[in-house]
Amino acid sequence: MKMLVVRGLCKEYRRGGGTFYAVRDAAMSVGDGDFVCISGQSGGGKSTLLNMIAGLLEPTSGSITSGGRELAGMNDYELSLYRNERIGYIPQGQSILPNLSVIDNVLLPFYLYKKTGDPTGRAMTLLDRVGIAHLAEAYPAHLSGGELKRTAIARSLINSPKMLLADEPTVDLDPRNAEEVMKIFSDISRDSAAVILVTHEANSARWVARRFSMESGILKETT
Ligand SMILES: Nc1ncnc2c1ncn2[C@@H]1O[C@H](COP(=O)(O)OP(=O)(O)OP(=O)(O)O)[C@@H](O)[C@H]1O
Ligand SMILES: [Mg+2]
Repeated sequence: MKMLVVRGLCKEYRRGGGTFYAVRDAAMSVGDGDFVCISGQSGGGKSTLLNMIAGLLEPTSGSITSGGRELAGMNDYELSLYRNERIGYIPQGQSILPNLSVIDNVLLPFYLYKKTGDPTGRAMTLLDRVGIAHLAEAYPAHLSGGELKRTAIARSLINSPKMLLADEPTVDLDPRNAEEVMKIFSDISRDSAAVILVTHEANSARWVARRFSMESGILKETT
């Protein structure tokens, strides 16, 4: 069964009295272990597509199926389970909560689902993997942009997602840290998860197995 199947997906937005399609008839099929990269010009619809796959934005038409389940057919509880247990999501921009320490930000998706057990060890391992274990007790106001991004990456992995959606995750990182993050994503895809990455960076290319471009709402596979 495919990790993700997207068919005929459209998102129509209204702006300035008119409407336009931010995503137009998108189709993609992603399997276990796939490492997919979507690139394209600003405003092309990449984040809109990713947000629909993440179950955060309702499509105008079309279907998204994950592990054989259609997102549109899920009730609120099932959709929250999908978002919290099945997928990891790294949004574009800053998404770390300012009033929680780094480690509490990483732990938050775990506690939102009141899982039993102590995930602190796992959170520390993830922080170590992204190179900021020494900042576990720090607060976001005292972190750099790249450190905040790495916190978001560790947070996206706390519930061991089957599918990781990452929107420009390396944009605030220096080349060495960007490489490290790409290696982490590559390891995740090898552990039979799927990774869908949105990026502008050309140097991420060598890690990625499948490439898509997105221009004016049109998604195309290029490899
Ligand atoms: N809520 C909204 N209402 C109306 N238009 C929107 C809305 N959200 C996004 N758009 C528009 O939809 C188009 C696609 O936006 P989107 O954020 O998906 O682009 P993107 O490819 O992620 O761009 P970037 O590379 O700059 O992040 C843009 O023209 C944007 O202005
Ligand atoms: Mg975007």
